[in-house]
Amino acid sequence: MTPQTIQQRIDVSWDFPVVFTRGLFHPANPVLVETLEHRQEDRRHRALVFIDSFVADAHPQLAAQIGAYFAAHPGRLELVGPPEIVPGGEAVKNDFALVQGFMRLMLERRMDRQSFIVIVGGGAVIDAVGLAAALVHRGLRQVRVPTTVLGQNDAGVGVKNGVNFLGGKNAIGTFAPPFAVLNDFDFLLTLPDRDWLCGVAEAFKVSIIKDADFFAWLCAHAADFPQRDADAMQHLVFRCAEMHLEHIRTNGDPFEYGRARPLDFGHWSAHKLELMSGFRISHGEAVAAGVLLDSIYARRQGWLTAAEYERIHDGLCRSGFRLWFEEFDARDPGGQRAIFGGLRDFQEHLGGELTVTYPRGVGARHEVHEIDLAKMEAAIAELQSGADFQSAKP
Ligand SMILES: NC(=O)c1ccc[n+]([C@@H]2O[C@H](COP(=O)([O-])OP(=O)(O)OC[C@H]3O[C@@H](n4cnc5c(N)ncnc54)[C@H](O)[C@@H]3O)[C@@H](O)[C@H]2O)c1
Ligand SMILES: [Zn+2]
Repeated sequence: MTPQTIQQRIDVSWDFPVVFTRGLFHPANPVLVETLEHRQEDRRHRALVFIDSFVADAHPQLAAQIGAYFAAHPGRLELVGPPEIVPGGEAVKNDFALVQGFMRLMLERRMDRQSFIVIVGGGAVIDAVGLAAALVHRGLRQVRVPTTVLGQNDAGVGVKNGVNFLGGKNAIGTFAPPFAVLNDFDFLLTLPDRDWLCGVAEAFKVSIIKDADFFAWLCAHAADFPQRDADAMQHLVFRCAEMHLEHIRTNGDPFEYGRARPLDFGHWSAHKLELMSGFRISHGEAVAAGVLLDSIYARRQGWLTAAEYERIHDGLCRSGFRLWFEEFDARDPGGQRAIFGGLRDFQEHLGGELTVTYPRGVGARHEVHEIDLAKMEAAIAELQSGADFQSAKP
């Protein structure tokens, strides 16, 4: 029989607000209630709230404030139960039983496709609870309230979620655009120094491959970040979120069907570093080192000038990053440098040919399909000698 084909085509568009505010759960702040009802005003909106345990610890009044906020809008909002506190940090992504627990709670509380899951926490909690919300009834409405720098300018404003599985970083996950993202800068004030700085690494990453002006601004303010300058951080978060959103909106591949991950400059080694360290090294710390390593490689390939490279190195140093980790040096049982496994993982995650993004001059980028391992060895040696030099300084 001659095959018959019906060519199906479905166009779906998403739009969601990303709001920047302060005091989100103050009863006088209209952002949350207006966000939940912006598609349908004439009903009472049910919501289940999840809070990152470290956020709950740093904001002991938060659960009560959320309760008071919902109570202040009785005809418009309904909190289906007390906020659920979930383990904060990468641990929440390393135990799938936790994701199952979130799904059970959503079903027990009879959350349907019109009701809201509000997730207050770091990128890890948003990824794990976001996955659960995306799976229950094939997708509940999720409102993300990211509470870290990385969460507010990257993880929280994107369209995907995920957890780690069988040793693979983000091995399980879905693409699920949020209903809304509500960035409350006040949350960032309680971040430990280490997490405050993590998003700065992603800012350098994206500026180096996309925006020379923003890179210059970052270099000019590098020393402000370790001093916890709030104005500088607010600008950084806004600009990075804006670039991230623009990228997803305009790059033609929001759900990453292609093999490239253009924003993942410096990430092949960063993901591997995180895994090799058992997540002792945080994502942002790993990204700073990964970006510097790939910048050394780029300079050695002629894709960055020595002066451009020096500015990157100087900016990352002055921002307070540690740029060498012993994990770069570890060997696998076959004697291979274990970090190189990150290239294989990177390729497997995307499928097809290896594709790694590198700068081509600060502010522009290109894709590379082959890494010269001998040159990368030399780049790693240079990274290490720079670290020796740094630690030898008085
Ligand atoms: N889905 C995506 O598109 C995407 C993109 C980038 C990164 N990610 C993921 O995001 C995760 C990293 O996110 P992160 O950098 O936000 O780290 P994180 O979620 O691990 O948070 C860092 C630490 O800070 C705590 N914390 C969060 N907010 C706080 C606050 N306001 N005050 C005090 N403590 C607070 C957390 O509990 C945690 O211990 C990684 O798992 C990464 O894979 C996802
Ligand atoms: Zn990243």
